Amino acid sequence: MAERTTNQSLVIGIDFGTTFSGIAWAIMDDQKSVQVISSWPGSGNRSSVKTPTVMAFLEDRFLWGWQALALSPEPIRGVKLLLDESQSYRYSPSLNANKLLGAMKKSPVDIASEYLKALAHTNEMLERRLGSAYNDMDRKFVLTVPAVWSDKAKDNTLKAAINAGIPEHRLALLSEPEAAALYTLRAIQPNTIKKNDTFIVCDAGGGTVDLNSYRVHDLSPLSLEEVVEGTGGFTGTDCEDDFDYVGWRLPLPGTEDNGEIELEGGYLQLSKSQIQGVFDPVVQDVLSLVHTQVRRIRVAGLPLQAILLVGGFGSCEYLYRRLRRAYPRITVIQPQDAWQAIACGAVLRGIEGNQVRNRLARSHYGVKYCVTYNAELHNRNEAHWCRFREKLLVSNIMRWFISKGTPISENEPVRKRFCRKLVCDVEASLIFREGLYFSSSEMTPYKLSNDVNHLCDLRVDLRAVPKELFKRRTNSTGLSYYSIDFDLAIIPTSGYMYFQVEFNGTTYGKVQAEYY
Ligand SMILES: Nc1ncnc2c1ncn2[C@@H]1O[C@H](COP(=O)(O)OP(=O)(O)OP(=O)(O)O)[C@@H](O)[C@H]1O
Ligand SMILES: [Mg+2]
Repeated sequence: MAERTTNQSLVIGIDFGTTFSGIAWAIMDDQKSVQVISSWPGSGNRSSVKTPTVMAFLEDRFLWGWQALALSPEPIRGVKLLLDESQSYRYSPSLNANKLLGAMKKSPVDIASEYLKALAHTNEMLERRLGSAYNDMDRKFVLTVPAVWSDKAKDNTLKAAINAGIPEHRLALLSEPEAAALYTLRAIQPNTIKKNDTFIVCDAGGGTVDLNSYRVHDLSPLSLEEVVEGTGGFTGTDCEDDFDYVGWRLPLPGTEDNGEIELEGGYLQLSKSQIQGVFDPVVQDVLSLVHTQVRRIRVAGLPLQAILLVGGFGSCEYLYRRLRRAYPRITVIQPQDAWQAIACGAVLRGIEGNQVRNRLARSHYGVKYCVTYNAELHNRNEAHWCRFREKLLVSNIMRWFISKGTPISENEPVRKRFCRKLVCDVEASLIFREGLYFSSSEMTPYKLSNDVNHLCDLRVDLRAVPKELFKRRTNSTGLSYYSIDFDLAIIPTSGYMYFQVEFNGTTYGKVQAEYY
């Protein structure tokens, strides 16, 4: 255990899951002792490395985790998926939660925030471990999000965490499969995965399955690069008959024994046919997602060494066997602590910093820009008159600056030069919005079309830039305007995209993004 002094930093990893959530922590500079919280309010004397992502309001009292499960007749579940509109409709507890939230006039961000507040401020448990030094420690939080999530869902998660009282400057979002990879590579035998090896991380949780593939660029210090585009989605669809082992115990920590349903010692004993009915559709779903990743890796001409199986469903013996059978020449690794891998990996990321050199962009990202109207190329009704430049412009042309599938790195922000014409001497004109768009189509669309989606508006504020640095112009009507060239820098981190404005190479603060 690290020496406890008042100026130490504490890294807290938060795995906010669809069904269960967990917290791991470590003192900075002491990554060998990453610990997980395993005693939770309401869990009695049973220990569990995660607590249910379940909450309830009972007579104005907010209950969460095991307490909500035990005391509320209708607890709210599946809130995480409500943060991503494209996922929520596929999971019935989330649909039910949506109705309950509607009746309470609370948004998914509000309720996720209440839960995160309870989770992130697990003071009692950490204080018990660290004593009074805990209160003097600097805290750094790493919160995980599914890699499959939309940028908007990631933004919702960020908002929920900030509303929960986690200061933004102390918070980093990290993708769940990345967290799992960092932890698992450390937990497995040395030499199982070597420099230049390629492996797939399959994080199968209660709500989402995320698959990402990495090549080991270096082992010490660890440096990974994403090699093919990740796949994933919601857990569960069609069924297939193929089952070859009998007997399975579902861990349900904190529950009372019940002989009628073979629930004993925190485990529910299920029969072969029960398991087959429940798991085959989900296993089949996960297998086909793995096949997609394997195919992509083969197409890229890379040798695949291992599949790392993590997450609650990733701990499933049946899934492990099915994967072993499907890929006899590939090592399938199910680390011992697969269920806590994500929270622990988040702590490692907080201690060691970014270890993924490149990730692959999941969409094309770009902006709309104006070109001079050309009667041979454009419709007249698409054109508008520009009072500064005194000519007809067409403004719905796309300029893409990140292409889907290309490597992006948080160490190398993507810069895009913008030119804005703004009225002089009107301070308010120096605050304006730039729309950022994305597209998931294979080819980058030339114009704004149905394949292009509005991602967010970036609120740019150039008031801090000394005015004498702007180019001043006057047109033929005597209208004075600034012609301002500035760079928008996009910093694509693992779990979130940050933006900042640069003028003549100087940074003028973060840009606020308002998502659609
Ligand atoms: N040994 C096991 N075999 C099969 N399933 C399991 C096992 N242990 C837990 N599970 C299931 O895994 C799920 C929880 O996994 P996990 O905690 O990784 O998901 P989550 O983090 O809540 O969801 P997500 O990451 O998708 O948001 C539950 O549905 C649980 O029933
Ligand atoms: Mg999870």
